[in-house]
Amino acid sequence: MVTALPSILLRRCSLLQPSGQSSGQSLGQPSEGAETRPPVIDIAPVVDIAIEAGRIVAIAPNLECSAQLELDVQGQLVSPPFVESHIHLDSALTVGEPRWNQSGTLFEGIEIWRDRKQSLTLADVKQRAIATLKQQAMQGVLFVRSHADVSEHSLTALKGLLEVREAVKDWITLQVVAFPQDGIYGGVKNDALMEEAMKLGADVVGGIPHYELTREDGVRSIHRIFELAAQYDRLIDVHCDEIDDDQSRFLEVITANTIRSGMGSRVTASHTTAFHSYNNAYAFKLMGFLQRTNLNFIANPLINITLQGRADTYPKRRGVTRVKELWQQGQNVSLGHDCVQDPWYPLGTGNMLDVASMAVHICQMTGSAEIDACYDMVTWNGARTLHLEDQYGVEVGKPANLIVLDANSRYDAIRRRATVRYVIANGELIAHTESPKSQWKRGAA
Ligand code: FE2
Repeated sequence: MVTALPSILLRRCSLLQPSGQSSGQSLGQPSEGAETRPPVIDIAPVVDIAIEAGRIVAIAPNLECSAQLELDVQGQLVSPPFVESHIHLDSALTVGEPRWNQSGTLFEGIEIWRDRKQSLTLADVKQRAIATLKQQAMQGVLFVRSHADVSEHSLTALKGLLEVREAVKDWITLQVVAFPQDGIYGGVKNDALMEEAMKLGADVVGGIPHYELTREDGVRSIHRIFELAAQYDRLIDVHCDEIDDDQSRFLEVITANTIRSGMGSRVTASHTTAFHSYNNAYAFKLMGFLQRTNLNFIANPLINITLQGRADTYPKRRGVTRVKELWQQGQNVSLGHDCVQDPWYPLGTGNMLDVASMAVHICQMTGSAEIDACYDMVTWNGARTLHLEDQYGVEVGKPANLIVLDANSRYDAIRRRATVRYVIANGELIAHTESPKSQWKRGAA
C-alpha cells in the first residue's frame, strides 16, 4: 500500500528476476526446465513500481495511485542497472595520445600510457572520467569499479578519480582501485605510493604480479596486497596473469592467500588470461583449490580477444579466461570493459551489452541458460564482486536504481543490444533514450 504520492510510477514492467543463483551455482548445471523452456521468454511478472524519496516503496500489479511522473513501459524489461566491474577511467578517451598503439599489444599500450600520463592533470582525469561515466550511465550502468594508476609520484590519477567518486555519487556509485601499473616493486617508491593511496581513501587494493620484474617479486607483491587489505580493511582486485604465458601462475598464489586469510569474496582476480593456456592437468587441480574459496573473477572479453594471442601464429589463442568452466563450478564471474578508447583498446562505447555479447561468443556460451548467465555477469554478479548486494536489486526498501530496456528477455537484450530507454538513479530519472526506428521504404516485398 502506497501512502504518500510517489515521485515516479512505472506501469506494466516486466520485472527481471535473478536467475536463482546468479553465480551459476544452479545454472552451472542447468536444470531440465532451464534447458527446455523457450529461450526468448524470461519469466518476469508484470508489475507497477512506485518510487518515493529515492527508494522503491511498492511493487505490485495495478498499483492504485498516481505520481508526479508516470511512465507506462508497456511490458518492457525492467532490470537492476548494469555493473561495470573493471574499467580504467584514468586512461579512458586518450586513444591516439600521444600515439596510436600500432602493435596492439599490452606492452606497447603500457609504454604509450607511460608517456601520456606525464601530462596528466586533475582536470584532465576528471573531465575524461566523468564523460565516460555519463556515457555509461546513459546506457544503464550505475555501479562502476575503476582502477587508478598509482605508479606516479603525484598520484594524480588516483586523486582525480577520488574527486570524481564524490562528484558523481548522486547518480553513480564508483569504487576506486589503487592499481600499481608499473608493479609494486618495479620502482623504489611504488610500495610507499600504494600505502599513500590507501591513506587517501582508495576502496580496493590492486596489483599486477605478472608485470613485476621477477616471479619472486610477483609472489611478494601478492603477499603485500593482502597485508595492505588487512591493515586498511579494503577489498582486493588484482590484475592477475594477464598474459598468454602458461607459466604465469600467480592465481594459485592469490588462491592460497585467500584460503589462508579467510578473505573469501573480498578478493577478486581480474583477467586471468593465462588460465586459458594452462594445461588441463594443472587447470583442473587449480579449479579444485578455487572451490575452497569465494574468489570473484572478472573477465574483459572485448579487450582480451584483441590483446591476447598476439605472439601466436596460427592457431591463435582466444586468451580469455575459462569463464564457462568457472561459472559452471559456481565461482562468481563478472565482466568489464577494461578500456574505452585508450592505448590498449581503441574502440568501446561503454555499453555492457557489447561486453556480454562478446562473452557469449568467445566463451561459447550460446546455450539458453548460458546466455542468461552472461547477462547476470553484467548485473547481479558484478554487484556481488563489488560487495554492493545490500543496496542492489529492484526490491521494496532498496535505493531506486533501475533501468528499462527495450527488450523482453535477457536473450533479447543481448542479441539486439537493446536500447536502455530509461535510467533511474536513486529515484531520479537521469536519462531517456528513444529506440531507433527503421522504415521499410520499398513497398511490398
Ligand atoms: Fe585492467
